[in-house]
Amino acid sequence: MFPCNDPKLAINGGAPVRVARWAENLTLGEEETRAACEVLAGGRLSLFEGSHQPEPPFSFWGGPWIQRLEQAWCDYYGCRYAVTVNSATSGLYASVGALGIGYGDEVIVSPHTMSACAACALVYGAVPIFADVQLDTACLDPDSITAHITPRTRAIVVVHQFGTPADMDPIMALARQHGLKVIEDCAQAHGARYKGRYVGTIGDIGVFSLNVNKTIQTGEGGLCTTNDPELRYRLALIRNHGEAVVEAAGYEDITNIVGFNYRLTELQAAIGLEQLRRLDYFNRARIQYADLLNTALSRYSCCVPMVPGYGDAKSVSTFYVFNFRYLDEGLGVPRAALIAALNAEGMCFGPGYTAPLYLQPLYQRKLAFKHGYPFAAPENQLIETNYFPGACSKAELLAGQVISCEAVRLPHTLADMHQIVEAVDKVLSCLSNVAPSLARKQASGSPAA
Ligand SMILES: Cc1ncc(COP(=O)(O)O)c(C=O)c1O
Repeated sequence: MFPCNDPKLAINGGAPVRVARWAENLTLGEEETRAACEVLAGGRLSLFEGSHQPEPPFSFWGGPWIQRLEQAWCDYYGCRYAVTVNSATSGLYASVGALGIGYGDEVIVSPHTMSACAACALVYGAVPIFADVQLDTACLDPDSITAHITPRTRAIVVVHQFGTPADMDPIMALARQHGLKVIEDCAQAHGARYKGRYVGTIGDIGVFSLNVNKTIQTGEGGLCTTNDPELRYRLALIRNHGEAVVEAAGYEDITNIVGFNYRLTELQAAIGLEQLRRLDYFNRARIQYADLLNTALSRYSCCVPMVPGYGDAKSVSTFYVFNFRYLDEGLGVPRAALIAALNAEGMCFGPGYTAPLYLQPLYQRKLAFKHGYPFAAPENQLIETNYFPGACSKAELLAGQVISCEAVRLPHTLADMHQIVEAVDKVLSCLSNVAPSLARKQASGSPAA
């Protein structure tokens, strides 16, 4: 029950701030329709060929729209190669495979994210080790990575969580020092920058998602970026039944090149090309809306904005999701009650990731594949996993504190964002022990501590 019985609150029967529904992630326009129709009129929805023969239009590298999207991605991000895939999950799997990772290897991953970011190690027989995250970014903490490096560590999967860039300088320095590979998961971070550089171009491989919820989308889909020609070739082999072509191509290192199909279609590529053209437009709205909400929320000491604290204007979050940390100490209003009160006002808040990955059954039971593989593999017996409560204390704190809102995007407007602020003000100002701190801050003109 919400601990304030003010009848103005919608949770107590009052009129809600908003009755209109929140819009879907509507990113498609006329340009996408035109591009899709052009592909349909051509009659070929895929021109991939699982061999190096015959000559185009069928190709190991895909058809013209695939190649156009990959080139446009390289032009936007300033990287040498882009390899389309049918999801970021496929892209993460292909990346771990391309890096030659397998049994006996440890991969350092984040616990405060989506499952594929750790599962990508398991599918190749390697073992995910969870490092902790930073409270202000929800991205991997370089100090915690350091603490988890062992002689068996081979790679780090760095997630630019919620569109916020991870602290890449110290992470890359660690990787160089210990000979580790870095996969950047940019599924949520299209166009985000770290100290002026696009995320996805700093590590060995970047992985982007084009699923229906993402900033730009093709329904399902994804891309990998790299500057390394061999990694690009290995990614393309894994994407496209590589086992069938390596011999013909004279390529020796067939480890992990087993037969998958991660191919994107021409139709999706044509849509993706138009989406990429509008990425900056979408991101500008996200950044503007998130700035507005951050400013409003920072007036409450119980609401802590999550922003990258790298101290430079060139690190830019693109706010795939807007988050803040809710500190309920002393308020007597648990997070779930606050979310319920806000949503009764017609808002669309949620709790984000509510448990670190290592507390999921897959890790608790160490059961990915039959007979407990890969955990039970003889090569993995020396590996000490950290799948216990308390392993990553900040990730666990975030799982209990974050309140998130996915509405910080078009087609929503600034007026919609002002309604969110109105709802937050309405609910928080009804709580007697929040209001004084607000008044104190307003009186002193100082932002939240
Ligand atoms: C951080 C992160 N990585 C990977 C993925 C997987 O993306 P996809 O749905 O394209 O497989 C997602 C999707 O939600 C994600 O948020």
